[in-house]
Amino acid sequence: MKGIILAGGAGTRLHPLTRVLSKQLLPVYDKPMIYYPLSVLMLAGIREVLVISTPPDLPLFRHLLGDGARLGMRFAYAEQARPEGLPQAFTIGRGFLGGAAACLLLGDNVFYGHGLSDVVRAAARLERGGRVFAYHVRDPERYGVVEFDATGRVLSLEEKPAKPRSSFAVVGLYFFGPDVCDLAAGLKPSARGETEILDLCRAYLARGELQVQRIYRGVAWLDTGTPRSLLEAATFIEAIEERQGLKVACLEEIAWRNGWIGPAEVEAEAAAMGKSPYADYLRRLVTEGPAP
Ligand code: G1P
Repeated sequence: MKGIILAGGAGTRLHPLTRVLSKQLLPVYDKPMIYYPLSVLMLAGIREVLVISTPPDLPLFRHLLGDGARLGMRFAYAEQARPEGLPQAFTIGRGFLGGAAACLLLGDNVFYGHGLSDVVRAAARLERGGRVFAYHVRDPERYGVVEFDATGRVLSLEEKPAKPRSSFAVVGLYFFGPDVCDLAAGLKPSARGETEILDLCRAYLARGELQVQRIYRGVAWLDTGTPRSLLEAATFIEAIEERQGLKVACLEEIAWRNGWIGPAEVEAEAAAMGKSPYADYLRRLVTEGPAP
């Protein structure tokens, strides 16, 4: 399976923060936002990742992340000239995927919690159909919403409904089989002029091939869509990191634990980052080994 991080969009709800900088490059406490979704792909064991962003922002992502070799990974980059909906990731990413199954992750989705690695590692073994995730939220009208019957069967999928039929949001993490590019290419734009990710999910549902898995409350799915929620996400990460002395979404640590790099590479990254607390953490890793 290969990964795609969609990090486009104008981020207008965060202006002026995002007037000149992509939302997914803004800090969430001590690292750029995109580190968090990238860490989820890495926890899933996905080593090849395509980053899609706008023409002005794409060079910044490339500058930040490089070709992936320093993490034992392979990163590719592609422009989204005009935003035409989330499924566009699969028309832009068709060549990159080359017939592989795909995990699409939205670049502003931050997850943290117990059991998440197992969930994504299992999903990365998907060979056909689709698997998406439902998470209980207070404000479902801001998201894609999934309604279940008593047996857990999906009854409806609606994008940002004014009157949500349930409190379950569909998170921005989607696993699809190798046919996803063909299905995405067949989607028609909705009333707002874009193709819709839930239409893609519905296409799998119609074939009886959509699994909607609950992500339970032991996992935090953090909102970064408003200045306040962005600050709260940063405060949440700070609280966890300061209490435990362990970092969330430390890419080098995950790459080492995955066996993709060794201590020499971690040390080289620390040296390149100078005196920051993140770099100090990497240095500690090298002497103490990756955290349990
Ligand atoms: C997108 C999807 C929505 C999903 C959300 C998760 O919305 O369209 O279904 O629930 O991401 O972050 P956006 O936030 O891009 O408007």
